[in-house]
Amino acid sequence: MAAVEIRPGIFWVGVNDRVTDLFEGQWPLPHGVSYNSYLVVGEKAALIDSVKAAFAEELLGNIAQVMDPARIDFLVVNHMEPDHSGALPVLRRVVPHAPILAAAPALPMLARFYGITGGVRAVPDGAALDLGGKRLSFHPIPFVHWPETMATYEATEKVLFPCDAFGSFGALEGALFDDEADLALYEPEAVRYFANIVGMHTKPVLRAIEVLAALEIAVIAPSHGLVWRNDPSRIVDLYARLSRMEGERAVTVVYGSMYDHTRRMADAVACGVTAAGLPVKVVDAARVHPSFVLAEAWLRRGLVLGSPTYDTGIFPAVEHALRLIARKRLANRVVGLFGSAGWQGGAVRKMAEEVAELGWELVDKLEFKGAPVREDLAAGEELGRRVAERVKA
Ligand code: FEO
Repeated sequence: MAAVEIRPGIFWVGVNDRVTDLFEGQWPLPHGVSYNSYLVVGEKAALIDSVKAAFAEELLGNIAQVMDPARIDFLVVNHMEPDHSGALPVLRRVVPHAPILAAAPALPMLARFYGITGGVRAVPDGAALDLGGKRLSFHPIPFVHWPETMATYEATEKVLFPCDAFGSFGALEGALFDDEADLALYEPEAVRYFANIVGMHTKPVLRAIEVLAALEIAVIAPSHGLVWRNDPSRIVDLYARLSRMEGERAVTVVYGSMYDHTRRMADAVACGVTAAGLPVKVVDAARVHPSFVLAEAWLRRGLVLGSPTYDTGIFPAVEHALRLIARKRLANRVVGLFGSAGWQGGAVRKMAEEVAELGWELVDKLEFKGAPVREDLAAGEELGRRVAERVKA
């Protein structure tokens, strides 16, 4: 994509990445991802964040559509993760005179990641930088999602650059702004991005939202995904809701199944949820990457887990998903458990132990032998109904 002027004198100069399969080496990118870099041009010019190292030349090409990259005066580093800082060594060679501005915790990272020690300035909380016609200020938002993360604000056009905060997966599909793009693609990818990348840091996200609320914001320009100029509050509200972990009044059924016994019970549980009047989503943990299972569990307050007993324990795909959900510290879930066993159970008991450690509310659990008979399926429906009733309550 070519450079886009998002406000007078403020340009998107980022790149689309449609070739990386796994973000952070683990999260699938079926729709790609964008690395958004921004050029703020007054009498002086500042580049806010950069891109992954492999895309440095494309970044320079986009900057060149606006101005000679060698005339950039400042490099602002909101966040040191290499999807935003990877082009710094190249930029340093192009603009050796331009100081790098970052929060203090970024300085040792600059040294360790790139051997950059000179020409770096730590910017204190609230520090301002007058570019002549454009005014930047810097606002730490630690642990959204690394300790050095800060947001940059441009006061004349009221644009916030919050880096990963309010970002999403999904490359830009020929449209940069929220009023041009298909939100049906980006909002689910924002949920998955939130759950996968920043989900473990919900308190820092809520703190950041509170701190940034003091700024008058017309445009939110994050470092991944859409620029929100029509309704910035929409993405802020989504992040706030997800951070509070209340979950929608709905139920996610996550199961694994070797010979369809547990799958048939998952369907029965789902029917029970529907009969109680709540929406339900059924997810086969063995066929969906845990990245997506985590996002589905994050969305809904009810969570029913089903697993056959495998090697005396939980079916590995379900166990993997459950461990990831626990690792991200998802709270406030109303839970049901079910499982099948060929001769000796164990999966349900072990899932119950994990649920107890997480402090989730366990409504009920059931385990059956072999193929589910009519009475078993009726008990599964009742389990779904009871979890739904607790979610409604
Ligand atoms: Fe998009 Fe934490 O980097």
